[in-house]
Amino acid sequence: MTMIQKPRGTRDFLPDEMEQRREVEGFMRRIAGTWGYREICTPEFEELELFTIRSGEGIVGEMYVFEDKGGRMMALRPELTAPVLRMYVNEGRTLAKPLRWYYFADCFRYERPQKGRYRQFWQFGVEQIGADSALAEAEVIMMAGEMLAASGISFSLHVGHLAFMRSLLSGLEPGDQKKARMFLDKKDNQGLEGYFASIGQEDLASSLTSLAGCRDLPSAFSLTGDIPEKDRICELFSILDAAGTRYELDPGIARGLDYYSGMVFEAYAENLGAENQVLGGGTYRLAHLFGGEETPSCGFAVGFDRVMVSRGEKSRQAALVVGIASTPEGLEYALAAASRFREAGLRTELALSGKSLGQQLSIVARSADFALIIGKRESDEGMVTLKDLRSGAQKILALDDAIAEVKGSEPR
Ligand code: HAM
Repeated sequence: MTMIQKPRGTRDFLPDEMEQRREVEGFMRRIAGTWGYREICTPEFEELELFTIRSGEGIVGEMYVFEDKGGRMMALRPELTAPVLRMYVNEGRTLAKPLRWYYFADCFRYERPQKGRYRQFWQFGVEQIGADSALAEAEVIMMAGEMLAASGISFSLHVGHLAFMRSLLSGLEPGDQKKARMFLDKKDNQGLEGYFASIGQEDLASSLTSLAGCRDLPSAFSLTGDIPEKDRICELFSILDAAGTRYELDPGIARGLDYYSGMVFEAYAENLGAENQVLGGGTYRLAHLFGGEETPSCGFAVGFDRVMVSRGEKSRQAALVVGIASTPEGLEYALAAASRFREAGLRTELALSGKSLGQQLSIVARSADFALIIGKRESDEGMVTLKDLRSGAQKILALDDAIAEVKGSEPR
């Protein structure tokens, strides 16, 4: 018989890994909460049009698309910004703005799987809806930096603005502009130069490559000349400086998605290879495409799985485990004792098989630090036998004293 495998590009997570993921997720939730962001949830699948309306039909090849039984074209969400803005138009238009929302959710992209690139992956994302200021943009950048720092990875945060590139590309056809952004997004300078040579725009190619290499505002502005967004851009960076945010100016950031309109930013983990982008985001406008009013918005998503790869295996302090072995006469008291131990917050496991106490003890010893042995005598006297499985020491104690003894000991 052939063994059934999980779908390509997906993963199973064993308990050790899940515990680590939940721990990091917890750090991110806590930070989002302290900045005033509250959790939302949207459907795992949406009408296909939600994703093609801005990005065009081309994106269909990268998505899980299906027809439902009613003949409607649906897609598993490849990201959550469009769903969240659809939700905002459907449910949130009357709420007081700015809205500060976050999500932790899985996304689906039909990509060629490799390390750090999966077909099902998780994003921890943030959307701030209805504010239009340099401070609003600075807020999401600062929060992104704090979240990645809390997750314990080494990374660099690159902040750019599409206005630089837009001003250089303004003379081109929209199709050529899109192509240029694509090369820049892939950091493919050779491709960029080849393409621009083929349309007779060699000079532009070299200006774009120089722009992508700029690391300070004066040199970026010297390439673009005065642009309408200049004051706003300067204000944003001066707020980031005032707050002591660690970032690099990077006017070469183009972002793969089509909806960004101004500030754009990405973070790269220092210890990852090709798929080192652990976060992406920026300012965008989407609400008007979904039937709402034009609404300035800003956000980012952390590629949660890449953060976990970057962190690597971190050993955690294992929780203390108490295993309970009992004779048939002691079972009722053993069940009560187990409840008391759990109420005290201790991880407590009953020996589920094994006829004799000896057999049960050897089962319990596979995972537990302490064994609680309960036979007729213990049950009659209202006591328990507590055995420290690490030292072999054994004591007869009242239940409360046994709980105190375990709680007072050091985990492995
Ligand atoms: P994105 O850059 O497409 O942006 O995705 C955000 C992050 O998700 C990436 O930086 C990467 O870490 C992770 N990611 C993307 N694809 C995969 C994959 N196949 N496997 C593992 N991780 C992946 C967005 O999705 C925007 N919605 C972000 C945003 C929110 N912009 C504004 N608000």
